[in-house]
Amino acid sequence: MNKITVIGAGNVGATVANVIAHKDLAREVILVDIKEGVAEGKALDIWQTGSINNFNTKVVGVTNDYLRTKGSGIIVITSGLPRKPGMSRDDLIKTNASIVKEVTEKAIMYSPEAVIIVVSNPLDVMTYVAYRAARKSSQKIFGMAGILDTGRYKTFIANALDVSAKDVHGLLLGGHGDTMVPLPRYTSINGIPVTELLGEEEITKIVERTRKGGGELVNLMGTSAWYAPGAAAAQMVEAIVDDQKRVFPVCAYLTGEFGIKNLYLGVPVKLGKNGIEEIIEIKLNAEETKLLMESAKSVKELTEIVDGLGLFED
Ligand code: NAI
Ligand code: 2OP
Repeated sequence: MNKITVIGAGNVGATVANVIAHKDLAREVILVDIKEGVAEGKALDIWQTGSINNFNTKVVGVTNDYLRTKGSGIIVITSGLPRKPGMSRDDLIKTNASIVKEVTEKAIMYSPEAVIIVVSNPLDVMTYVAYRAARKSSQKIFGMAGILDTGRYKTFIANALDVSAKDVHGLLLGGHGDTMVPLPRYTSINGIPVTELLGEEEITKIVERTRKGGGELVNLMGTSAWYAPGAAAAQMVEAIVDDQKRVFPVCAYLTGEFGIKNLYLGVPVKLGKNGIEEIIEIKLNAEETKLLMESAKSVKELTEIVDGLGLFED
């Protein structure tokens, strides 16, 4: 791809830019921030690893200069405040909604055809904010959370079984919050159902740890995670750039799938050069459906808070 823009040069944004460059996914990555010098410095630092890590991608940092982002094929939005100890993702809602709205409007002006991947929290509603601000097809606007959350889930399962995390396949639905719905019934170790290998109690503990996985890291570091979130967002970028048709849990706009309408929520999708090419409606049992509906309810409440902020005229 010719150009990819990453907005927000903080922990997550710089990591996304670093992984994109490392994988040589674009000729240029433009890193944007509002803090003078920060994006410029981090971009230069990443670019200078090219000869060491063997990539060609040029990484350029700018302060609020959206003209430089012109013609980007993908825009990754990571700008906004991260969680601090004691804060839920939802505490971030007002501040981050204004930031996400503003940066989406500016970026889309110069790259109207771009696919937008939102990372800022609270994820599901910030993706909705970007959708409202960009005024384009939801096929091209979606959020990253599910790859991160399943990454955590798979790590815990691999650890419990002492097997390679590469052999753990799993799925998780719902919002990026404590109501997310890991699906043990759809989890396997290279085809062997996890339910054959781990007891119910152990699986329940892993599901609980996954749900609180973000908070666990916030408590350890005083701010939220970046290596796994950055790698996860870059994996989505890679699927689009290389038209890979990868199947990932992604925060997508639902228009009746799973019985849910007009809401951004984590579901399995096929990602390719056109963005979301299909939402894959898997069968859920009664318990899984109940948990998904609870998660949808909590995201809907946050979406209503955003609607009540008066950010959008219509
Ligand atoms: P950070 O504080 O390290 O970086 C945020 C950056 O955004 C800062 O450099 C700040 O100057 C910049 N920024 C603020 N307003 C801006 C604007 N108007 N234009 C351009 N840049 C602006 O935070 P971090 O750790 O990188 O997290 C970023 C966001 O991602 C947070 O909202 C965090 O909660 C979220 N996050 C989401 C995850 C997910 O799974 N979806 C996982 C981890 C973090
Ligand atoms: C995470 O899950 C806080 O959303 C952030 O790490």
